[in-house]
Amino acid sequence: MECKLLGRRAVGVDINPDAVMVARNRLDFSYSTLDADYVAPEIKTYVGDARSLDLIGSETIDLIATHPPYASIIPYSHNREGDLSSVHNIAEFQDEMSRVAVECMRVLKPGKHCAILMGDSRRNKHFIPITPRVLMNFLEADFILKEDIIKMQWKMKSTREKWFGKKYDFYLIGHEHLYVFRKPDSDERTAKFRESMKWW
Ligand SMILES: C[S@@+](CC[C@H](N)C(=O)[O-])C[C@H]1O[C@@H](n2cnc3c(N)ncnc32)[C@H](O)[C@@H]1O
Repeated sequence: MECKLLGRRAVGVDINPDAVMVARNRLDFSYSTLDADYVAPEIKTYVGDARSLDLIGSETIDLIATHPPYASIIPYSHNREGDLSSVHNIAEFQDEMSRVAVECMRVLKPGKHCAILMGDSRRNKHFIPITPRVLMNFLEADFILKEDIIKMQWKMKSTREKWFGKKYDFYLIGHEHLYVFRKPDSDERTAKFRESMKWW
């Protein structure tokens, strides 16, 4: 929808046909603007797997905006083959996200950006760090971390979870990370960004 409003061509991918149908339904609106340069863009959607974007050529994409499941916190289907929200084991989820990161690196044009929204969880009353794992997945795929933008959650039970009551602004899992990665330009000298790159 944002691409349609901004006049940007787009390809939307989801493994769940129901999600693709929802997207197509929401895209079904007419839009006019006073901007004389606006040209209604081509927006494509297809049922596909973020780990293997078979219909998208290498180095053809200017910007990736992706919001994967946070492992199995919210199930988006009943164990649909390839649905990452069915992956309960966190090590396995990290392995699958490493494939997503490699595929994002492949389809993105050099010098362009990939934004991924990710959150953490809690099990057995203990914190499960998912976001650092996904950060490592993308650095491992040779992305450079440009920004780590904090998005406060809203309309969530955890939004109201404050440490020691209402007196302090300390939240328990009150936020998500919007990581913005940059793919190095062709032949770019990346040494000066090494603290924002894979360090291990
Ligand atoms: C947090 S929702 C985001 C939905 C939507 N893109 C948005 O931002 O509103 C996560 C979505 O990831 C989809 N998904 C799960 N595994 C996937 C995979 N392997 N490839 C592509 N999409 C997947 C789910 O079907 C679900 O719709």
